[in-house]
Amino acid sequence: MGTETVAVSTGPATGSLVGRAFEPSRDLLSPNRNLTPITTDLDAQGRLEVGGVALSALAQRYGTPLYVLDEASLRATCQAYRGALEAHYPGPSLALYASKANSSLAISALVASEGLGLDAVSAGELLTALNGGMPAERIVFHGNNKSADELALALERGVTVVLDNWRDIELLSELAPAAGASPEAPVPLLLRFTPGIECHTHEYIRTGHLDSKFGFDPDQLETVLRHLSGCSWGLLRGLHAHIGSQIFELQPHQDLAGVMADALALARSLGHPCTDLNVGGGLGIRYVVSDDPPSIQEWVRTVAEAVASACRERQLELPRLLCEPGRSLVATAGVTLYAVGSRKDIAGLRTYLSVDGGMSDNPRPITYQSAYTAVLADRPLVEASETVTLAGKHCESGDVLLKDLSLPPAAPGDVLAVFATGAYNASMASNYNRIPRPAAVIVGGGQSELVQRREQPDELLRYDLLPERFSSVT
Ligand code: LLP
Repeated sequence: MGTETVAVSTGPATGSLVGRAFEPSRDLLSPNRNLTPITTDLDAQGRLEVGGVALSALAQRYGTPLYVLDEASLRATCQAYRGALEAHYPGPSLALYASKANSSLAISALVASEGLGLDAVSAGELLTALNGGMPAERIVFHGNNKSADELALALERGVTVVLDNWRDIELLSELAPAAGASPEAPVPLLLRFTPGIECHTHEYIRTGHLDSKFGFDPDQLETVLRHLSGCSWGLLRGLHAHIGSQIFELQPHQDLAGVMADALALARSLGHPCTDLNVGGGLGIRYVVSDDPPSIQEWVRTVAEAVASACRERQLELPRLLCEPGRSLVATAGVTLYAVGSRKDIAGLRTYLSVDGGMSDNPRPITYQSAYTAVLADRPLVEASETVTLAGKHCESGDVLLKDLSLPPAAPGDVLAVFATGAYNASMASNYNRIPRPAAVIVGGGQSELVQRREQPDELLRYDLLPERFSSVT
């Protein structure tokens, strides 16, 4: 790891930070606290490299836009969650990767190889995990509107189903016995409820407050638990709650432990074994210099101690502790590379610098007004000389990736690296304007390997059908 510092320019949350320097990887044990992957360094020519590969060389080889994932950062976060759970929780535990953050065969395989489990919310995420080699017994299947086909797949493959609502129970009551479930071989179940906990994050990614579409209302908990006592096709293995995402506070997670322990006591008093307690995910990451999230170790310690003491107070046997980190596991491992293209100077107002991607590969700025940090991949240390608005190439005025980005002079073809794009970028990508989705590569030890092929424009026509009567142009 080099000792150089890199001058960063940031999005609107921090204003201009031209000339301010940061260590490329200040916290190697908790990558969510860094802006850049833990292997970020400068090569002999002063170019930014990740995993021992110059970012501009990756752009050259694979084209842009390009999602780059640092294997070492991914493994470090998996190990951080596992290690901290083992260190701080006196009972058994398992971290489940929330694969909605970034779902691919390669990530599923990597996470499985690190001994984690996985949370899936659709047939697509489920198949990706299973085909990536994630053992079915380490997968939980979520969703607030699971289809009968999705539930049938979950039953066939033996994954744990998270009951979210009465419809899940109705469907499973029919599907599970037909799929061979019985009191001797019951379907493993978790029950999700809304814990009624408020936390400070964007309203679209808050889930724990009472007005949420996810999970059973706490008022219904006893009724549903009593009902499940009569469902011999299933076995209630535990309870689940999730309070939201990109959370920097620890207190709501502590509060959650008490609420969940009360629910656990109720469930056990009604005869359910409930050996698992799944506290969801939510730990935030650093997108811009001013973000200061807790470390994975602090988060796990807080949650583990809160759950252990809440159970002790209620004289409950310790459940297995499950958690579901998504963003904090993969975001900082990711960098997106773009090529700089056109430029528009509006005198006295603004300079737009456009890149060859935008809201289709990263919908987070337009959806949540999220700020990011970016540098020119080959000149990260060169002092900034202007402030630009980094625009995407989509036909939408709001397609802006970064506002007020301070950059050295940038010319068409220069490679721009946007950090902390490993979570909720590829997985939320679209084909708006019929723009193909980028390729993804994983880097490590000076090597790079393609893990998602770049879509080609003609592939986007695959699902179109042209009715014959439309096809004769006169
Ligand atoms: N478990 C459940 C049940 C969830 O709904 C989520 C996230 C997670 C775990 C993982 O949360 P994380 O550790 O990633 O915070 N698209 C939004 C984020 C949506 C999060 C949805 N649920 C974004 O780009 O910020």
